[in-house]
Amino acid sequence: MPFGVIYIAIMPTVDDPTEKTLAELGVNDAQGVAEKFAEVRTRFDRQVAFDADEIRSLMLHEAWLGSDSDPVTSLRNFWVGRKAGVLTLITENWLKKSPPSLKGVVGKQFNELKTHIETKLEEQRKRIEEKTEAAALNREQVDLSLPGVIRPVGSHHLIRQVFQEIEDIFFSIGFSIVEGPEIETPYYNFEALNIPEFHPVRDDMDTFYLELPKGAKTPLLLRTHTSPMQIRTMEKQKPPVRVIVPGKVYRRDNPDATHSFAFHQIEGLAVDTDITFCDFTGTIEYFVKQFFGPSVKTRFRPSYFPFTEPSVEFDVSCPFCGGTGTAAAGGTCTKCKGAAWIELFGAGMVDPAVYGFVNYDAKKVSGFAFGIGIDRLAMLKYGIDDIQVFFQNDVRFLRQFP
Ligand code: DAH
Repeated sequence: MPFGVIYIAIMPTVDDPTEKTLAELGVNDAQGVAEKFAEVRTRFDRQVAFDADEIRSLMLHEAWLGSDSDPVTSLRNFWVGRKAGVLTLITENWLKKSPPSLKGVVGKQFNELKTHIETKLEEQRKRIEEKTEAAALNREQVDLSLPGVIRPVGSHHLIRQVFQEIEDIFFSIGFSIVEGPEIETPYYNFEALNIPEFHPVRDDMDTFYLELPKGAKTPLLLRTHTSPMQIRTMEKQKPPVRVIVPGKVYRRDNPDATHSFAFHQIEGLAVDTDITFCDFTGTIEYFVKQFFGPSVKTRFRPSYFPFTEPSVEFDVSCPFCGGTGTAAAGGTCTKCKGAAWIELFGAGMVDPAVYGFVNYDAKKVSGFAFGIGIDRLAMLKYGIDDIQVFFQNDVRFLRQFP
């Protein structure tokens, strides 16, 4: 309903007939009384048809409608308010002051009007209440067909996945998994592995030493390999020993596509009374075939590590060109650069000198050890050409390995 209409419908009481007596209005018979009551009733009927918002917008312009914050209450007070409501005015001005001859008619008309007003006000209250409730319900409605809030779930880092893969393979053939400290003493990191203080291989493993307070018992360093756990394990445990040690290692290398100052290794150690070189190569071959697939071949070449004797370097036939050195599409295989073989990791039979450090009887026990660089292996298997991506936490890279 346009505001103008509302405005006219409850125009202020410029000359409100209920403020005058019937005599002042010139009413002197039943007919006149009925007409006046009908006028009031029409006015009321228009107002009671308004909804809450319409009454409110009216209140903003009509101070006379009262100052109640609730527009419905305002309207109610205007009509049935005890002090100055229209019904009170009619009682005062029309009923009480009517001549005795009209009292009966005025009384009857008044009662009818009163009932009408009260009923309609109550109906209006209910109507508005229901409408408000319906609107609230509508607002609060839950649409079960809307897509929910998707909370992204992370995944294991590729390095962690490769660790897991390798751990599973060795676990299935009887190895247990142990972990050790990333901060080591030179004794475990070097000496007990048969690397005395001025041994040249220490140069390759130049690493980070911790700044310690003066008088500290021993220097401390970030371990350069997982091999110290060979010593820690054998110190704790009598043969048979079969463990693998996954973990982080550190070296003072300048970062480039194949070097990082932090990287990952898995150490392996098996020691018992009857372990032979065949057990050694057989175990390694089993692992390599499990990891790269049954069609690859392995080979080993002589190498040198202070804690193994003999020492070897294990190679795998290039899994990408099938060990031919030629790419499927022709031309040199880019993975092995035509060599047909890819260098994998160092290993060997445990040097008897090492047993001396852990009170094993070198005459009675034998065993093998290996140290696998995980980052290199992961790069090889998943075709990654820069080791730095493992440490950059770029989700565009990480998401490729869910
Ligand atoms: N610790 C050696 C390194 O980090 C790797 C290694 C070679 C570990 C031979 C071994 C091993 O257990 O037998 O370069």
